[in-house]
Amino acid sequence: MAGTIVAGVLAPHPPHLVYAENPPQNEPTAECGWESLRWGYERLRKDLAALEYDAIVILSPHWQTYVGHHFLGVPHFKSLSVDPVFPNLFRFHYEMDVDVELARAIAAAGAQRGLVTKMMENPDFRVDYGTIVSCHLTRPEWDKPIVAISSCRSTSYYNVDVMAQQAKALADATKTAIADSGKRVVLLASNSLSHRHFTTESTVPEDMSQEHIMNHGQYLWDMRAIDLLRNGKAQQFLDEMPEFTEQAISETDAGALSWMLNALDMPTYEAELYAYGTVIGTGNAVMGWFPGGDR
Ligand SMILES: [Fe+2]
Repeated sequence: MAGTIVAGVLAPHPPHLVYAENPPQNEPTAECGWESLRWGYERLRKDLAALEYDAIVILSPHWQTYVGHHFLGVPHFKSLSVDPVFPNLFRFHYEMDVDVELARAIAAAGAQRGLVTKMMENPDFRVDYGTIVSCHLTRPEWDKPIVAISSCRSTSYYNVDVMAQQAKALADATKTAIADSGKRVVLLASNSLSHRHFTTESTVPEDMSQEHIMNHGQYLWDMRAIDLLRNGKAQQFLDEMPEFTEQAISETDAGALSWMLNALDMPTYEAELYAYGTVIGTGNAVMGWFPGGDR
């Protein structure tokens, strides 16, 4: 039977959310914090638990490669991930399985479509925190193998049009490889929406009296983006995305969301909005698309 994409998720990766969850893998501990986003992720997990799937395929803005897209290519990774900006919040002992077979298949299908692709086969490679945070919040059991794809920084190296073309080719490669694999897969686009953030931290990081959107302009952009995405206007969202990225310094420049929306065949159906919330002033939405309608 042909494989399928059973869900696509906009899965932002602020390390603060893992910090506030207090999982055993993370060294720092928190009292609370960012509940609306964490409870949104909780509802997402309940919906995903009702679906059968074999693997998670994720594209993270924090694994940055300037020459093509790279794919984790070692069956098992285990190490310590320390957030470079927030080492006080995120020192996470991770252990993950990789679906190397599917990763190779997507990489090969990408190469056939003119993309530069490469398998990362260094067993000591340190997996980026974007991949770890989004995967942990989506599936804290870590019992599904993942396929992790790097962000080829084509928006900054060339321009947004090159990124859009590459995202489309990578999405097509992803769809084809998944169909051929016979597997059922969940896709994760690991990114925030508006992304201008505070440059200082309060004494207690989880002090929610200090948490709010950076500015009203960002908030308006986030509401615009959510409104389009929620109401099945994926194509319009991508058409407006370059301006959104520039004005709201959004992480959409990395191509994760463009890739996922293309892989979902540009949804015209409603997305489920699980949560919207800010983290150090950035806007974050947890959203799910269910192509089979089986939510
Ligand atoms: Fe980020």
